[in-house]
Amino acid sequence: MSVTTRAAIVLAAGQGTRMRSRVPKVLHQLAGRTMIDHVLDTLAAAGVEQVVVVTGHAAEAVEDGVAGRASTARQEPQRGTADAVRVGLARLPASITQVIVAMGDAPLVPVEVYVALIGAQASGHEIALLSARMADSTGYGRIVRRAAGEVTAIVEERDADAATRAIDEVNAGTYCFDAVWLRENVARAPASASGEHYLTDLVGLAVADGRRVTALPAPRPELAMGINDRVGLAAAERILRNEIAERHMRAGVSIVDPASTFIDATVQIEADARIEPFTILRGETTIAADAVIGPHAQIWDSTIGSRTSVWSSVIESSSVAEDVQIGPYSHVRPGCQIGPRCRIGNFAELKKTSVGAGTQQHHFSYLGDAEVGEEVNIGAGAVTANYDGHTKHRTVIGDGAFIGVDTMLRAPVTVGPGARTGAGAVVTRDVAPGKTVVGMPARPIELRRRSRDG
Ligand code: UD1
Ligand code: CA
Repeated sequence: MSVTTRAAIVLAAGQGTRMRSRVPKVLHQLAGRTMIDHVLDTLAAAGVEQVVVVTGHAAEAVEDGVAGRASTARQEPQRGTADAVRVGLARLPASITQVIVAMGDAPLVPVEVYVALIGAQASGHEIALLSARMADSTGYGRIVRRAAGEVTAIVEERDADAATRAIDEVNAGTYCFDAVWLRENVARAPASASGEHYLTDLVGLAVADGRRVTALPAPRPELAMGINDRVGLAAAERILRNEIAERHMRAGVSIVDPASTFIDATVQIEADARIEPFTILRGETTIAADAVIGPHAQIWDSTIGSRTSVWSSVIESSSVAEDVQIGPYSHVRPGCQIGPRCRIGNFAELKKTSVGAGTQQHHFSYLGDAEVGEEVNIGAGAVTANYDGHTKHRTVIGDGAFIGVDTMLRAPVTVGPGARTGAGAVVTRDVAPGKTVVGMPARPIELRRRSRDG
């Protein structure tokens, strides 16, 4: 029994001129991941363990972008896709028997396609490639078939006559090759008028040699698209966004209006969560069951607990426990932990603050660098003055404390458990547990009464 060992070469050396960008094309983002990350994710899902990314234009940036995920090989200068594959092959051990070639700018090709190409190649074809019937075939190589249907060649658009241009079956640029055949033949692709060696010319060469080539039509042609400019990037984003929303809906998440909902590929959502319109979920975000997110929520890199609702608010790099209500119009900035059953805002802002279970911060107020206990009431307009112009200082508020409306807490300061501050108090010194302080600067209420009465 022969052992198949499989590897992939991902082409990412081209300049991507049509993007008109300082950023290399394959590092542009789609649903929160780079294009090339999507390609590498899918290859990993297809069980391809060895991957070589061919770099050239902006090589360092691309190499950094794939560090730890794939090895790289530099193609200098960039003399076309066949030349790029030759460079990639040189990095692979001789024991490899199957080579997938993927384009770094075709990030939507699904795992089933790679699996199908691997199977088709193994069933006795030197080349198995993905074709697609595109609504608009502009820019793609055309698949030329005999009347009986066998593929005979791929003709690049720039070399195609009118009749060939009219062919609507195009080359997606995704292939699986017999590795031995590829090694022997890759250098045979001739130079084009512009001095490039086209990988696509190997198809005609193989057929002329009596080798077997098969083109598998993509079940969903839109997923075979190559991204060459920003218009293509936005089109791919739309397709991917739709795919992501469908995946969540099939897994039991309600998404009221997928068209106005933006969910990164990296976001995890449990069944029975509900995502309301105009909501953006980004990065490493996790939403638990029965949470209601939106309308108009933006959540970045955060964890949201069960039954929590986030309405017209922004949450960044924070964790929110279960049964919390946030918003409308609150901003939870990085580094916050919000405990169960809290109520946060209208117009609350929090930063690097932990809030214990059952605490209420109903109306416009600011908590920064604070450690707030359980069942605390933060009155309307209460503010931690955490910054003295040089350094940030901490505020500690104990369990069950009551912070009166318009209280100013000048940090560093501690308000003990069960303590109270009066309306408009400016707290400059620690407040003992159970004490009530009032005034500016705030003093214990009994001292103030005594001084007023005496
Ligand atoms: C290519 C195919 C075309 C196919 C289309 C699918 C060739 C000659 N043409 O055209 O048949 O329909 O993809 O999207 O293969 N690259 C290198 N080194 C190079 C040149 C390119 O690594 O010297 C990389 C690019 O970075 C890119 C990929 O190969 O990721 C494809 O190159 P691109 O110039 O976009 O090819 P297309 O004109 O789209
Ligand atoms: Ca392309």
